[in-house]
Amino acid sequence: MNTALLLASLATVVLGRFSYEGYKVYQVTPENEEQIATLYKLRGTLRYGLFSDSVVPGYPVNVMVAPAEQEMFLQIINEDSLNYRITAEDIESKISAERERIQKTSPVAKGEISFTEFQTYTVIQDYLQQLASSYPDIVTVEEFGRSFEDRPLILIRIGAGAESNPTILIDSTIHAMEWISTSVTTYIIQQLVENSDYRYLIENINWVIIPVLNPDGYEYTFTQERLWRKTRRPGTLCDGVDANRNFPYHWGGNGTSTDECNFYYIGPHALSEPEVVAFTNVVYKINNLVLHLSMHSYGSMILFPWGWTTELVSRSDELQQLGDAASKAIAAVNGTVYITGPSSQLLYYAAGNSVDWITYTRGTLSYTVELPAGPGDGVLDGFIVPPEKILPICQEFWPGLLSFAHQSAKIDLNNADGSSRLTISFRQWAWVLFMYCFRCADGI
Ligand SMILES: *[C@@H]1O[C@H](CO)[C@@H](O)[C@H](O)[C@H]1NC(C)=O
Ligand SMILES: *[C@@H]1O[C@H](CO)[C@@H](O)[C@H](O)[C@H]1NC(C)=O
Ligand SMILES: [Zn+2]
Repeated sequence: MNTALLLASLATVVLGRFSYEGYKVYQVTPENEEQIATLYKLRGTLRYGLFSDSVVPGYPVNVMVAPAEQEMFLQIINEDSLNYRITAEDIESKISAERERIQKTSPVAKGEISFTEFQTYTVIQDYLQQLASSYPDIVTVEEFGRSFEDRPLILIRIGAGAESNPTILIDSTIHAMEWISTSVTTYIIQQLVENSDYRYLIENINWVIIPVLNPDGYEYTFTQERLWRKTRRPGTLCDGVDANRNFPYHWGGNGTSTDECNFYYIGPHALSEPEVVAFTNVVYKINNLVLHLSMHSYGSMILFPWGWTTELVSRSDELQQLGDAASKAIAAVNGTVYITGPSSQLLYYAAGNSVDWITYTRGTLSYTVELPAGPGDGVLDGFIVPPEKILPICQEFWPGLLSFAHQSAKIDLNNADGSSRLTISFRQWAWVLFMYCFRCADGI
């Protein structure tokens, strides 16, 4: 980061909240490998990096550029004759409108949850505690560590069956600004615990769910800097570590940055972040782990390893097949298409991420889910999702989750949902009656 940029960012925080005044979002469509390489180079240089993550020839990519970076950005873009257009210049006004809206919204009652607005970490923790006391037979809530700023790291365990049942692990919001992933994960918790239609899912599967893995960053996005991504570890020039580049597998490899001001900063060493250490300890202790989902936004994608190399992972056929099935189930709701594939081929290199690490250490089916953007041009809406879109995005993802659960835990649908169970028991009754009459007729 150059001095001008440093001074500019210091100036913007002096008045309190971080201001996005003068920031612009550019849309660039790389047409060949060379231009993709340029985008990777830019990603290593810019404070914010790329917004939408699909760096594939022909796919537009959104890049947010700070005022002090405009000149450098345009120079690099022009050198490689990349076409661009400006898609958002009023970032600050969008962000302050969202902040004002949230401040005006009356808070939910303690222990309740709502999907008409984004919720703070306190609201989510209170909701989980309420579930633990209302459903003590199926729910336990556990503090599995403390964040860098000493917030409790909270997970919820949901299960109504054998301890030996297959386990599904879901983590969310390792990237602070990806608020919609927090909503979707909380919605999943609500359905599993409070919707008795899905009782079979908790009788057959043990669930371990972490709705906010980076609570310091999450809190900071509500109070200070809406588009913050990293943890809150203080640095020399810039703060924070990309916790999803801090896992101890190919740490520091392709798609990462050693510049602490970068969006994708790997941290001083692998496992430097207490949130990542605590998470890995949770993972080591899970028995019979059959599926892991890491919830992110945005891009409408279902990604599987590897992130560090374009080589295929050993279970890639199975990963592709389960991903395609989930994607199909989601599309059946409202036509939203989630693209499925290996992350290094669809998205970008991302060495040191949780999904690579879990695949390597546990051999489990493991995915990064990039939830969809809001409506409109999808530029800033990707992170600034309008409140009326929260519930539809949650509801639309739910059938995808069901598909993942059924397939990874090998739940036989004919024995699973209520209606088919009725059919089965009707058949069983018919059989009993038939046997009875048969024996009657036989005179026994
Ligand atoms: C980066 O990716 C390439 C291509 O997939 C791979 O061959 C190489 O080993 C990776 N580099 C590192 C440092 O992991
Ligand atoms: C489906 O799309 C319609 C029309 O845009 C919208 O009103 C509705 O909320 C969407 N439902 C879901 C579950 O996404
Ligand atoms: Zn993310």
